Amino acid sequence: MTEATERVDGRRSAGQRGAGAAEGSGTRRAAHGLGMLRPRTRSEAHWAEEQQVIGPGLQAVMLLARLCVAEADGAELTDIDGNRVLDLQGAGGVNSLGHAEPRFTAALAAELRRAPAGAFGSAARLDMTRALRAFLPEGLDRVQLYSGGTEAVEAALRLAKSVTGKHEFLSFWGGFHGKTMGSLALTAGARAGLGPLPPGYFSAPYANCYRCPFRLRPESCGFACVEHARDVIKENSTGALAAIVVEPVQGRSGNVVPPPGYLTALGEVAREFDALLIADEMMTGFGRTGAAFAHQHEAVRPDVLAVGKGMGGGFPVTGVVAGAGTMAAAPFSEPSASSSSFGAFPAACRAVAVTTGVIMTDKLVDNAAQRGREMLDQLADLTELAPLVGDVRGLGLALGIELVADRHTREPAPRSVVQRVYLELLDAGVLVMLGGNTLRLYPPLNVDRDTAGTAVDIIRETLIGFGGVR
Ligand SMILES: Cc1ncc(COP(=O)(O)O)c(C=O)c1O
Repeated sequence: MTEATERVDGRRSAGQRGAGAAEGSGTRRAAHGLGMLRPRTRSEAHWAEEQQVIGPGLQAVMLLARLCVAEADGAELTDIDGNRVLDLQGAGGVNSLGHAEPRFTAALAAELRRAPAGAFGSAARLDMTRALRAFLPEGLDRVQLYSGGTEAVEAALRLAKSVTGKHEFLSFWGGFHGKTMGSLALTAGARAGLGPLPPGYFSAPYANCYRCPFRLRPESCGFACVEHARDVIKENSTGALAAIVVEPVQGRSGNVVPPPGYLTALGEVAREFDALLIADEMMTGFGRTGAAFAHQHEAVRPDVLAVGKGMGGGFPVTGVVAGAGTMAAAPFSEPSASSSSFGAFPAACRAVAVTTGVIMTDKLVDNAAQRGREMLDQLADLTELAPLVGDVRGLGLALGIELVADRHTREPAPRSVVQRVYLELLDAGVLVMLGGNTLRLYPPLNVDRDTAGTAVDIIRETLIGFGGVR
């Protein structure tokens, strides 16, 4: 059976469970009318018609869920059959303000009525620069805009080459940075059939303490993974290391949070090799982890950030951030050398201005920290109560629940089981993101306690009810 058919079959069987699975629940879900309570007839027809034109290779979770959305409001989605679900997928961390946040939609609508197509100076760009000046970390005060995450990562690589005059990069097992050539070479896996990749890219194990490849414990390991990273550079580099590229929390691996001090230690390694530290904060930036930027949980200052996702509240805008001195390096700084067609279009700038403004005004960084802590506490005992759950982790509102076949050996739960859990959760009224064998949760940064609690209840009930691998 191909991967695609396996997914489709998995979805169908859960779809048949749909209405029945949501019946008879005593949870807050029932009170909120969440879940796949109505047959998804219109959704199925809608999806099938779209797929006559849309190419294959869409996001796996979308292919599984086949959710066709009619309306979205805050943390909630309503499909075209009238089923309501809580959206904790949040487009993998994009949905920072919640869907259709009124200030966001009003500002964007007004901007679209007056915006020229072009990267001119504009009121929107001025407002954005003012908002970013207040929000960006000290010393990281220059931004160049793009429209996709991988594009911003590529720009960060070009900037590192410009600053150092070198061209090698170190990245980490389990990391994800995009699908264009440079970012793909940084990304773990997903390369089969796509070679050759550019030379000069090395990788080392990330500080994934639940799955430490050295079988050590974080309290006593002395950052063996950082030592190993140093050795990887020594063994592989031709003396041309331009940068170490790292996610402060690894998203696609299941929101893996490294122990405190990890980024600082990597920063020291970068300095030893006269290279830059690039923090890929695409998912973690703009408040997601309960700090404005995730690296700020430590006393480390990366040289360059790649940002996007939550920065635009749903508008496709990304960026590279660095200090003025760093960004002045040529050729990156030469006319047209770091521009892109859509970079700094007024609608994109307005999206960043309003999103950053709302994050600051509504203190959403603090809300993310607080709600995230509560959710983590409420989910923590699943490692005892749900045989399938091996690890519960997270930082702010980037949470991960890792599913295992066996808690003692930590053997990952098979993909078919992970998919069944995903679909049972959807049936019960919570849409999550997947990353390997981990459920990834990205509620909006302004999620309230009641909504977060409802989602937690549904997740707990579903996972405990699921039992072990079957
Ligand atoms: C950390 C990180 N970097 C880069 C990317 C690539 O972004 P895009 O899919 O917009 O190219 C992603 C996307 O998930 C990401 O999580």
